[in-house]
Amino acid sequence: MEDSHGRNINYLRVSLTDRCNLRCMYCMPEGKCNQNYVSSKMSIEEIDLIIRIFAEYGVEKVRFTGGEPLIVKDISKIIYNASQVKGIKDISLTTNGIFLKDKIDELKKAGLNRVNVSMDTLKEDKYERITGRSYLKKVKEGIEVCLDKGITPVKINVVLMKGINLDEVDEFIKIAEKMPIDVRFIELMPIGAGTELFKNHFIPYKDIVESHHNLIPEDHRVSSTAELYKSSKGKGRIGFISPLSCNFCSECNRVRLTAEGGIKSCLHGEEEINILSDVRDLLKKYNLSYCDLRESREYSILKKKILGAMYNKPLGHRLSMEGKSRSNKQMFQIGG
Ligand code: 5AD
Ligand code: SF4
Repeated sequence: MEDSHGRNINYLRVSLTDRCNLRCMYCMPEGKCNQNYVSSKMSIEEIDLIIRIFAEYGVEKVRFTGGEPLIVKDISKIIYNASQVKGIKDISLTTNGIFLKDKIDELKKAGLNRVNVSMDTLKEDKYERITGRSYLKKVKEGIEVCLDKGITPVKINVVLMKGINLDEVDEFIKIAEKMPIDVRFIELMPIGAGTELFKNHFIPYKDIVESHHNLIPEDHRVSSTAELYKSSKGKGRIGFISPLSCNFCSECNRVRLTAEGGIKSCLHGEEEINILSDVRDLLKKYNLSYCDLRESREYSILKKKILGAMYNKPLGHRLSMEGKSRSNKQMFQIGG
């Protein structure tokens, strides 16, 4: 559907949990994040109903995120249900990759089309410094298994930080040259724990493009957040996700569902409408009798709430002007 600014909103990102098995320094640093972790508050049925309503309003793509979505026990069932919803054409996952190797077969069978894996470094000791854990080997194995299973392109997300992993840009570009992998460098965002690190470690993407003459720009993106490049000998592509340097809000096609059932139409906005109690009441009252449920007055009220949240998506964020996100939620609650 079109929002009030004429953007076609067709992409729903669902955070399934705000828990994670890593402690990334810019997201959920060890000891500094005294969050009361609430494992996903939404049940399989609740998630399913919400996705169905969004699909009725034109959502075609669903991405499951977290926290870490692969620690959610029912992840395959949730993916399978989404794959059965009329209108949903593409199902993807953003994961830290730790459980990919173990789960990829069942995920693929359930209907998963694509994966993005977060991996900020190729070095074991640095991985431990950034994430607080030593799982790099498992993550690399997970990526290899995805390639073996023909999931292409696999995307690797790298949050670039000056003084931490900036020295590995060339190594990551080499990966995209050798394999059908899209490496996407993400600018550090001043949200949650990232706000503090931002002052000393932010690096604008233009600095990297200017110092890497082997990067050739691809055609302009359509409703994607990444500026894409190819290396002269590359199989995969290099993308830059640069919410600060290059604001893509005017082309944004996304809406987000937090792990607590809140609809956020802008990652960095303060607007959030929680629909979980409406959804829960409906499912309880009609006890899976979907015909009656869809005929009910409460259902049309819920649909109106969802429609309103989508339609009133704000024009854009003010990260550059204000130096920090307006979001009341942290990245691990919204899912990036
Ligand atoms: N800045 C940029 N990216 C972030 N992520 C989490 N916190 C931040 C931040 N402050 C990213 C992770 C992952 C995705 C889920 O969100 O690296 O790729
Ligand atoms: Fe977990 Fe992703 Fe946050 Fe790292 S960035 S702590 S992997 S949710």
